[in-house]
Parts: sequence; C-alpha cells; structure tokens
Amino acid sequence: MEDVLGYQGKSVVVTGAASGMGQATAQILTELGASVTALDIKPATIPVARALQIDLRDKANIEEVAATIDGPIDGLFSCAGLPGPPFSEWDTILVNFVGARHLAEALVPKMSEGSAISVISSSAAIGWQGHIKVITELLETEGFDAAVAWLTANEKKWSWSGYAYSKYIIDAWVGWWYPELGRRGIRINCINPGPTETAMMPAFQDLMGKDTVDQAIGPVGRYSTAEEQAWPLVCLGSPRLSYVGGEVLWTDGGWNGAMTMGRHQAQWADTAADEMSKTH
Ligand SMILES: NC(=O)c1ccc[n+]([C@@H]2O[C@H](COP(=O)([O-])OP(=O)(O)OC[C@H]3O[C@@H](n4cnc5c(N)ncnc54)[C@H](O)[C@@H]3O)[C@@H](O)[C@H]2O)c1
Repeated sequence: MEDVLGYQGKSVVVTGAASGMGQATAQILTELGASVTALDIKPATIPVARALQIDLRDKANIEEVAATIDGPIDGLFSCAGLPGPPFSEWDTILVNFVGARHLAEALVPKMSEGSAISVISSSAAIGWQGHIKVITELLETEGFDAAVAWLTANEKKWSWSGYAYSKYIIDAWVGWWYPELGRRGIRINCINPGPTETAMMPAFQDLMGKDTVDQAIGPVGRYSTAEEQAWPLVCLGSPRLSYVGGEVLWTDGGWNGAMTMGRHQAQWADTAADEMSKTH
C-alpha cells in the first residue's frame, strides 16, 4: 500500500517548525509528500515548501500570517511552545495556548473536510481532569483579547506555572472543541509527551533539577527523541485516523499508565496538583 498515512499532495501547516518536535514533524510530513508551511518565531532550519515567521504572542501578527496561508489546509500541527522560566509565565501561556488557539481559529475556515488539528501538550498535564472548573473559565473566553483579559483578572489561578496551566488546558481544549469542529468534518487531538531531548530540555532541568525531570521517565527508561514524538503526532493527523477525535494520546513511555496504577511516583506531579487545587 502506497501513501500509507495519506499525506501525498496534502497541504499542512506546522508551528514550532524551526526546532525539536516541530522540526521533526515538518521533516516527516515533507518526506511523506505533503506541502509544508512552516511557522516559527525563528528562521526555518530545514527545506520546506514555505516558511513564515510568526510570533504567537502577537494577535495582529498571527492574523497577518494566517491571512497569507491559502486553503484548503489538510492539517495543522501545533508544536510551538515555551517551557516557562527563563521565559516569563505570560509569554509561556500566550505561546502555548492563547496564540496557538488564535491561529487555529483563524485557519479553521480554510480547513478541508477530513482535515485535522494535532497539538503538542505534555505529560505535565497529568490530573487535568481534577481542575475542569478553572480550566473551563479560560476555555469559555472568545478570542485572544478575551483570553488575555481573563488571564489578567485571574493571574493567581495560573501564574504559579504558565507551563503546567497551558498544558492542562490543551488536554481539555481538544475535548471541548471537537464537538463543534466535528460538525465541519475536522478532528482535533493532542499528544502528551514525556521528557524529550530537544532544545527545551535544559530549561526544564535548570528549573526543576534533572532528578525531578527524570521522575517523568516511564517504564521505557529513557527520554524520547523528537522523532519519537513527531511520528505519533503525524499519525494522529492522518486521515487514516478518521474516527479518533477529542483524544489525548500519552506519548510518555508508559509513565501515565504506571502513575495511574500506583507503580511509579513523581513528587512534582503531586506538588503541581496541590498548587492548582489552591486556586479553586
Ligand atoms: N522537550 C520536552 O521534554 C517536552 C515534553 C513535553 C512537551 N513538550 C512540548 O513540545 C512542544 C515542542 O517543544 P520542543 O521540545 O520541540 O522544544 P523546542 O524549543 O525545540 O521547540 C519549540 C519551538 O517553538 C518556537 N517558539 C517559541 N516561541 C515562539 C513564538 N512566540 N512564536 C512562534 N514560535 C515560537 C521556538 O522557536 C522553537 O522552534 C512544546 O509545546 C513543548 O511544551 C516538550
């Protein structure tokens, strides 16, 4: 069977394509025959059909860039992200969720029936279901400015970690938005990667300490590579997975399963859950 994943001749958009998982995603999609529009705040690092600079913190810039992308778009791969410190909590939540959502909403009118939005969240989202009330308050905001207004008025609810909060909300967002997108024939899903060897990793290790980061290693016993995250993301976005929507796929080497069954401990996950619980 040729073109197993059905990307030949398809038009796709990849954010965060200059580095790490986004770069690996753009590379794989290009090799699978897709025409890739690569978006990043940094210049492109691999040959793609088209590369555009975008700043996902900037509403007007997102709209300008989105307007230059012609439809029909068959796939949006939302990979751009910031780790939190040394970046500000504000920049982190803007890039990871508010800007990512604004871009996705701007592109949806150009997306074809049978297309998909595939987002990178994180295993840091573990336990998001315990905080649905505070997450839903932000999900219910309509548009970039309304999201910024909610974040400004409710800074205490999320600023303990813009990173963790942004990942909780992405896991919730896919289930929240799919009922609406599904009516247009568009799917949305996300992956929850475990620790991965990319340019982002030193920031996590500096902030939390390597031993703490390593508590997120699953039974697989090692960090993943960018390609090991890109492949499941590319599979989720494939038209072959047409019955998979609103789904969170844990790409964490078995960590979440082991945590759920009490066969692995990660102190930071309990600490994060406590911090989040204090806010609602
Ligand atoms: N590396 C890990 O251990 C890990 C684990 C779980 C989840 N993640 C998530 O994976 C995704 C990809 O991260 P990565 O590990 O490949 O890191 P990376 O730093 O290699 O890639 C992130 C990309 O996002 C881009 N970006 C940052 N700010 C931007 C902005 N304002 N506008 C547009 N683009 C911007 C960067 O330029 C970079 O190319 C992120 O969402 C991250 O949170 C990473």
